[in-house]
Amino acid sequence: MKFFVDTADVPAIAELNDLGMVDGVTTNPSLILKSGRDILEVTREICSIVKGPVSAEVVAQKADDMIAEGRKLAGIAPNIAVKVPLTWDGLKACKVLSGEGRMVNVTLCFSVNQAILAAKAGASFISPFIGRLDDINMEGADLIADIRQVYDNYDFKTEILAASIRTVNHVSQCALIGADVITAPPSVIKAMASHVLTDKGLDQFTRDWAKTGQKIL
Ligand code: G3P
Repeated sequence: MKFFVDTADVPAIAELNDLGMVDGVTTNPSLILKSGRDILEVTREICSIVKGPVSAEVVAQKADDMIAEGRKLAGIAPNIAVKVPLTWDGLKACKVLSGEGRMVNVTLCFSVNQAILAAKAGASFISPFIGRLDDINMEGADLIADIRQVYDNYDFKTEILAASIRTVNHVSQCALIGADVITAPPSVIKAMASHVLTDKGLDQFTRDWAKTGQKIL
């Protein structure tokens, strides 16, 4: 399973990257806003740190404009994946950009049918949004499972990039289902290390060790 980090926070990316936890990065207009940085500048900096795919999202809504923006974003570095929305125009842009040999991440996917179209348009990645489905009382993880089954039925090569991951449970659900990639905020990736029984066990060991009066160093 690959881990992408869903942020444009460069120090947070660098910290996780040093630990080998970063196979790629995803950004979107909201994350660029949150970073307070220029999109071209911050994306270039991220690409200088991370070897794997770095998603940079177009903001135009017409296919021709998306294609122009996608080409400009792809010019930042060879590991850019151009992110386009799952609209009819986005699919047209996906077809053209992927035909030029560029990685394309089709985002804002909320149904199996949308995922099928993205695969047929040549997407490298499909991004189904789990958390936003949960927000409307649907089961986001079920969508990942359904897309997994359909892609496997037809041997589609598009990678399932589970997005809008909000909790550590989302991560383990996606791993069990067999999502190819999860993209999660740094806080969620770090929270995966926590367990109440780990904390409790460590407290016990620390107290018992103090009673021995010994030192290792
Ligand atoms: O990768 C997409 C992600 O950033 C959306 O997450 O939490 O805004 O639904 P969220």
